[in-house]
Amino acid sequence: MKEIEKAVNSKKLGEVEQKYFGRKKGLLNDVLKKLKDLSNQEKKKIGKLANQVKNELTQQIKEQKEILQKKQIEKSIQKQDLDITRPGKVAKSGRLSPLSKVQYELEDIFRSLGFVILDGPEMESDYYNFEALNIPADHPARDMQDTFYVKDQNNKLVLRTHTSPVQVRAMLEHGAPIRAVVPGRVFRYEALDASHENTFNQLEGIMIDENVSIANLIAVMKTLLKGIFKKPVKVRLRPGYFPFVEPGFELDINCLICGGRGCSVCKQTGWLELLPCGMIHPNVLKAGGIDSEKYSGFAFGLGLTRLVMMRYGIDDIRHINSADLRFVRQF
Ligand code: FA5
Repeated sequence: MKEIEKAVNSKKLGEVEQKYFGRKKGLLNDVLKKLKDLSNQEKKKIGKLANQVKNELTQQIKEQKEILQKKQIEKSIQKQDLDITRPGKVAKSGRLSPLSKVQYELEDIFRSLGFVILDGPEMESDYYNFEALNIPADHPARDMQDTFYVKDQNNKLVLRTHTSPVQVRAMLEHGAPIRAVVPGRVFRYEALDASHENTFNQLEGIMIDENVSIANLIAVMKTLLKGIFKKPVKVRLRPGYFPFVEPGFELDINCLICGGRGCSVCKQTGWLELLPCGMIHPNVLKAGGIDSEKYSGFAFGLGLTRLVMMRYGIDDIRHINSADLRFVRQF
């Protein structure tokens, strides 16, 4: 036991262990092996004692091993000058893109007005993207939204050009009355410039009920713009043509990048097309299985990406999908 206590490192302790418990020459093992040569009476007495000694020593070796291990750890901590109480490095966390931030704010505003948030497929059928919205195959309005056609058996799938297909999907699934907004990504075959992307985001909205009028539409649009810009913004409403609304409007906002003086974002006009809207065409209500005699409704298609640009003063739309960390980290 004294030898074990004196073993100051694991090598020394190993030597002591070998000396007594080594398989071939271990002193204690030797005693145990010789037990068989003793008389029965001696066997009982010596055997018991030998076992007791073996157990005690095994236990002491185990404890000594633990003591040595602990000392070893303390020593290496000292040697490396390691301060385990020092605070760790703070991990860099990600952040919401400006697009998601504005989208979540809009969702909150619309939830407070009793709207539900819906979703729809990005790869859409030609039917929902065009036909059901009163845009048949030979309609010139298809030219306004050229898109990527996906090769399938019937060439009937497109990357959706707007979030409007979810209007009819929502009507078919939920019926009337309904209030819903649909944020989502859309795609167009587009020549890129400061305000045009081929992949951008919109937020569609519909409200259908008995006696819904243009007054309801304007009230909701005003609430929306006030909630987002938190300051008065000049807007103008002018007639706009979309086959799926009648009457249709374009709601433009005064360009917040240049204050209306004219810049590359507003194409020198001082105004930016932001919120096309109108009263849902009876043919679209019909496609959605809704009685157009009983119900009426409005729809709008907010250019979410452009709204984000106005909100944060971003002067080129191409920054938004660039994944450039110098841009993303500013928000
Ligand atoms: C539409 O997409 C219609 N679905 C909107 C609508 C919905 C009208 C419901 C009536 C009722 P438009 O093609 O104008 O309309 O696009 C809507 C908005 O998306 C535009 O005002 C603009 O803000 C934004 N937008 C259009 N093209 C691009 C583009 N290439 N890059 C970025 N934003 C765009």
